[in-house]
Amino acid sequence: MGSATDRLATILAGWTDRHGIRWALRDVPTTESVEEIASCSRFSASELDSLNKFRHAGRRASWVAGRLAAREAVASWYRGEGRDPGHHEIPASRSGAPRIEGRDDLHLSISHSGSVAVAVVGNRRLGIDLEALEERPDSLVRSFFSESERLWIEAVPSERTRRGNTAWTRKEAVAKLLGKGGSLRFADLAILDGESPWTIESASTPQHAISLALEHGN
Ligand SMILES: CC(C)(COP(=O)(O)OP(=O)(O)OC[C@H]1O[C@@H](n2cnc3c(N)ncnc32)[C@H](O)[C@@H]1OP(=O)(O)O)[C@@H](O)C(=O)NCCC(=O)NCCS
Repeated sequence: MGSATDRLATILAGWTDRHGIRWALRDVPTTESVEEIASCSRFSASELDSLNKFRHAGRRASWVAGRLAAREAVASWYRGEGRDPGHHEIPASRSGAPRIEGRDDLHLSISHSGSVAVAVVGNRRLGIDLEALEERPDSLVRSFFSESERLWIEAVPSERTRRGNTAWTRKEAVAKLLGKGGSLRFADLAILDGESPWTIESASTPQHAISLALEHGN
C-alpha cells in the first residue's frame, strides 16, 4: 500500500478508537488483473450477480477491492469479538447498499476512489465516503449545499477545494448511512456540526477527503 493509503489508515485508526468501528483499506487491482483476482476470491453466486451488473473493467476492479476490504473489516470485527474471523458473504441489497449475510446487527459501508477502496463495520448505522480532492464547480455547490454549508465552503478561499470535497463526502457518507441512494435530495441532508443529527467525522490528505457518518451512540 502506498503513502496515500498509509495516510488514510492513520485517519481511520483514530476513528476506530473514538467510535468502536473496524475498517480495512485495499488497493484497487489493475484492470488487467481484476478477473484473475475475482476468480480466486471465492465470491458467492449472489456476490457474482452484483459484480456482473458491471461491464466496465475499472468499475469491476473497484467492486472487487471494496468487497475484499469489506471481508477484512468484518474479519477484524469478528477478531474483536474473540471469534474466528471466518468467511463472510457481502451481498448487495436492492438499493445497492452492502450487507453482511447473517449479521443484521452489524452495519457495513464501502467507498472507492481511484486506486483505493475502504470498508467500515460497526454496530450502529454508518456510512463512509472517500473522494479524490478535485475542484467542485460553483453549480454543484449551489445545487447541493444549503446557505450555511456554502458559507462554510467559501469562507476561506485557499481552502475552498478541500472544504468543498469534505462537505461532499459528508453528504455521501450520510446518504449511505440512510441507505437511500438516488432518492435523496442532497441539499436536505444537514452535514455541519451543530446542524446535523448525525455524528460526522471528516479529514483530508493531500490526495483525498474522507468522511464517516454514524448514528449517535448511547
Ligand atoms: C450510492 C452513492 C452513495 C454512492 O457514492 P459514490 O461516491 O458515487 O461512490 P462510492 O465509491 O463512494 O460508493 C459506492 C458504494 O456505495 C455503496 N452503496 C451503493 N448504494 C448504496 C445505498 N443505497 N446505501 C448505502 N451504500 C450504498 C456500495 O457498496 C457501492 O460500492 P459497490 O457497488 O462496489 O459495493 C451515491 O451515488 C448516491 O446515490 N448518493 C445520493 C444521491 C444523490 O443525490 N447524489 C447526488 C449525485 S449528483
